[in-house]
Amino acid sequence: MHEQRVVVVTGGASGIGLGISRLFAASGHPVAILDMQREALARESGRLRDDGANILPLEVDVSDRAQIDAAYATVRDTFGPISIVIANAGISIPVPFETMTTEQWQRTIDINLNGVFHTIQAALPDMLEAKWGRIVTISSQAAQSGSQDRAHYAASKGGVIGLTRSLAREFGGRGVTVNTIPPSLVDTPMARAGEAAGQVPPLEVIAQHIPVPRPGTPDDIAYACAFLCSEKASYITGQEINVNGGSWM
Ligand SMILES: NC(=O)c1ccc[n+]([C@@H]2O[C@H](COP(=O)([O-])OP(=O)(O)OC[C@H]3O[C@@H](n4cnc5c(N)ncnc54)[C@H](O)[C@@H]3O)[C@@H](O)[C@H]2O)c1
Repeated sequence: MHEQRVVVVTGGASGIGLGISRLFAASGHPVAILDMQREALARESGRLRDDGANILPLEVDVSDRAQIDAAYATVRDTFGPISIVIANAGISIPVPFETMTTEQWQRTIDINLNGVFHTIQAALPDMLEAKWGRIVTISSQAAQSGSQDRAHYAASKGGVIGLTRSLAREFGGRGVTVNTIPPSLVDTPMARAGEAAGQVPPLEVIAQHIPVPRPGTPDDIAYACAFLCSEKASYITGQEINVNGGSWM
């Protein structure tokens, strides 16, 4: 990536989103990080700035359209029109389907699916105006294989994959590509929290069953993301790019 592009990364204060933010920033792009964790946002943005990154941290709940619209107004005032959107923010709170409450179902859909809708739709006018845009959604292998005790999560991520493909069809002729990366097992605070709570076996144990026998890293996802957002990826759209060590083929 040679040209500077204004990048938005949701959920960029932790894990995969932080890795993606760091890589885009290291490539010289201004990066707006939208996240609801105030302290992590301040801490990680500070670290990135210490490394010379051009970062705009914004405290946002992606399920709230008004918050997204207000944040994007600040992004446009500070950096200019948005060219690249990485819709990454998400939650995963396991609960058996039989006892899942409507509120638990709804909150997961609100963040993981509706949040992606808001994140993308509010940025699209800039991309359509420029006749250039790149959108990457971070979905999950849970939508491909199903996932025990995470029916709400898998359903939300399946929705993200359908949304991604539909937008690829709708905007492919107008300079905007839309792809999804469905990770499998990535060593992040989310994954380690599940391990610590006994919801999943130790990541290293799970990893023994993956052809590349290690958990993925945020960088693994970020490198694929950077390529999908480059000039060289202009003919790739509507795709699920599996970055998962061969966990799902
Ligand atoms: N880690 C994995 O193994 C794995 C596997 C498959 C998919 N994913 C997906 O990757 C994405 C990133 O996950 P991660 O592992 O880095 O998790 P993480 O918990 O480390 O980071 C997620 C970030 O999203 C933010 N966030 C959550 N809800 C938000 C909201 N409503 N508004 C704004 N920000 C919000 C959190 O504050 C956090 O900083 C998620 O969408 C997740 O579902 C992760």
